[in-house]
Amino acid sequence: MARRLSKEEAKRRIEELRREIAYHDYRYYVLDSPVISDAEYDRLVLELMALEEAFPEFITPNSPTQRVGGAPREGFPTVRHLVPMLSLANAFEPEDLRDFDRRVREALPGEKVEYVVEPKIDGLAVSLLYRDGEFVQGATRGDGEVGEDVTPNLRTIRSIPLRFLKDAPPLIEVRGEAFMPKEAFVKLNERREEAGEPPFANPRNAAAGSIRQLDPRVTAGRKLDFFAYGIGHYEGISFSTHWEVLDWLAEQGFRVNEHRRLFSSIDEVIDYVLSWQSKRFDLPYVIDGMVVKVNSLESQARLGATMKSPRWAVAFKFPPEEAVTKLRRIEISVGRTGVLTPVAVFDPVQIAGTTVSRATLHNEDLIREKDIRVGDYIVVHKAGDVIPEVVRSLPERRTGNEQIFRMPDHCPACGAKTIREEGEVAVRCPNISCPARLKESIFHFASRNAMDIRGLGKVLVEQLVDRGLVKNVADIYFLRREDLLRLERMGPKSTANLLREIEESKSRGLNRLIFGLGIRHVGERAAKLLAEHFGSIDRLAQATEEELTEIPEIGPKIAASVRAFFAEPRNLEVIERLREAGVRLETTKEVREEGPLKGKVFVFTGALKSFTREEAKALIERLGGRVASSVSRRTDYVVVGENPGSKYDRARELGIKMLNEEEFKRLLGLES
Ligand code: IVH
Repeated sequence: MARRLSKEEAKRRIEELRREIAYHDYRYYVLDSPVISDAEYDRLVLELMALEEAFPEFITPNSPTQRVGGAPREGFPTVRHLVPMLSLANAFEPEDLRDFDRRVREALPGEKVEYVVEPKIDGLAVSLLYRDGEFVQGATRGDGEVGEDVTPNLRTIRSIPLRFLKDAPPLIEVRGEAFMPKEAFVKLNERREEAGEPPFANPRNAAAGSIRQLDPRVTAGRKLDFFAYGIGHYEGISFSTHWEVLDWLAEQGFRVNEHRRLFSSIDEVIDYVLSWQSKRFDLPYVIDGMVVKVNSLESQARLGATMKSPRWAVAFKFPPEEAVTKLRRIEISVGRTGVLTPVAVFDPVQIAGTTVSRATLHNEDLIREKDIRVGDYIVVHKAGDVIPEVVRSLPERRTGNEQIFRMPDHCPACGAKTIREEGEVAVRCPNISCPARLKESIFHFASRNAMDIRGLGKVLVEQLVDRGLVKNVADIYFLRREDLLRLERMGPKSTANLLREIEESKSRGLNRLIFGLGIRHVGERAAKLLAEHFGSIDRLAQATEEELTEIPEIGPKIAASVRAFFAEPRNLEVIERLREAGVRLETTKEVREEGPLKGKVFVFTGALKSFTREEAKALIERLGGRVASSVSRRTDYVVVGENPGSKYDRARELGIKMLNEEEFKRLLGLES
């Protein structure tokens, strides 16, 4: 097994690995241009983890292994910024930028003025303190003078360097914007709605909510990013221009926005700023304007600041994109928990770069609150520039023919009488066999973060339910080849693939199964906590509400919902059928959701010398990976032992990376 290193050797190797990993994190998360394969990267992290396990005295908070978030805290200590964090004065018209330019030139008579223009990222301002190039403290802006210490949370953001790449000054405050990319925002809101949690209004709120989390592990699960745009206090280094500061930050490993430009006239500035008005929608993050800054730091100092904002910078704000259109009808969509969601269907309009014609209206109360009637002219926008939303109606444009909307008394999919529980906004279809509900719940069960059955998409689920082949999630495991072959668009090959996927999904693990069952309010995180705590579906099914609420983070709402789910005989029958099918209903061992092998799929062929399959499987799972029984395109590694079988040929055919036993051990960090 692992060659024993002396303490000195271990220390040196740990240091070397951290530098290497930091560099590759930088290539991957900052430059988006990795120079080594994922497998090689994994090997470095694994080796570091193994060494830190053997020599825990060398673990430091800034080790790349510590990015997953530490223990929850009681509250946020406060931090006084060494240099106050000001905000910016706003400009809305090109004329405002000309006024700004005039004021700057008046204060700097006879000087050549240059401007740096950068996108204004819509997130939250943070200050990062580095001592000798080590990240020591991160804080929110707060009131500008004093902010909150959110160091452990910021450490989870991969594009924030934990140490500088180059020679570092003794002390420096790096300023920038922490933000949530659009894609992460959309996914987060989908998950929240599923779990019955209110969605975030925009990526800025999502980023702020994620950073102001007492449990940094929650922050680690939110895909945040960071752009550096300036510095506060600094010692032992000097700069003459803002442009130079930005380049220096980029060299130190920060993400600095690539759309920054340097200009020497306000006309060029205005042209550039305006050119982003529509281009901004193609960016993967939200910008709400462009910031214009005087380049020379000496000039900046001479211009100074008012109480609130510097005189050397201004934010040009883009007008929010809205459109007026006519609401044609309100459709009802039925979700897997039976919730009837009203969806606005309106005349197509262009907003934030795309044509939109539908938007969710969430529930009846919201429609009433906003006084939205069918036939109304409505104002539509996109939350976070991506999610269409009806902002308000325009009652002044009514003709009298508009119709007040009422939620239907009966489910549009199955005809069951709908219910609205006391104190709840949602109207539900109570029929658990409702085909619309069933389709959604099967689709959810098969989704990526649940049982991950690729190929079981919407179109197929429709057919399976409509033909009565699937009446609950357990039926998936009893589908026969001949049934599938009769469906549209299912040939022998896709059928074989689907059956293999279904087979493999049986061992996805208890947390994914619990999530996949679609118990109300049980999102991925709750499912994981329940799986870890109870260890088997049977123990969970027997848990009382008191036992459930004893688990930190599991509140009475989730507890009641779990109880209600397992009190329903039909659900217990489904569990029995899953058992019969051979679906894994307990956690066999600690299954990590994070780890250097996260998401990696391994397949074994042939016999290994140093361990049994079970041992090897346990090692992989402990590091966040997964073991599958057969080779597919989604396999990441095939571990080839003695006398390999047909899986070897299949892996060659698909060009999948193969490891011999030595290489496999090295990947696991067991040998160097
Ligand atoms: S400079 C003293 N540059 O916009 C000037 N701010 O009120 C400090 N922001 O809260 C700000 N992108 O968080 C600057 N490229 C950028 C920015 C930016 C976004 C935010 C910043 C601040 C607000 C301005």
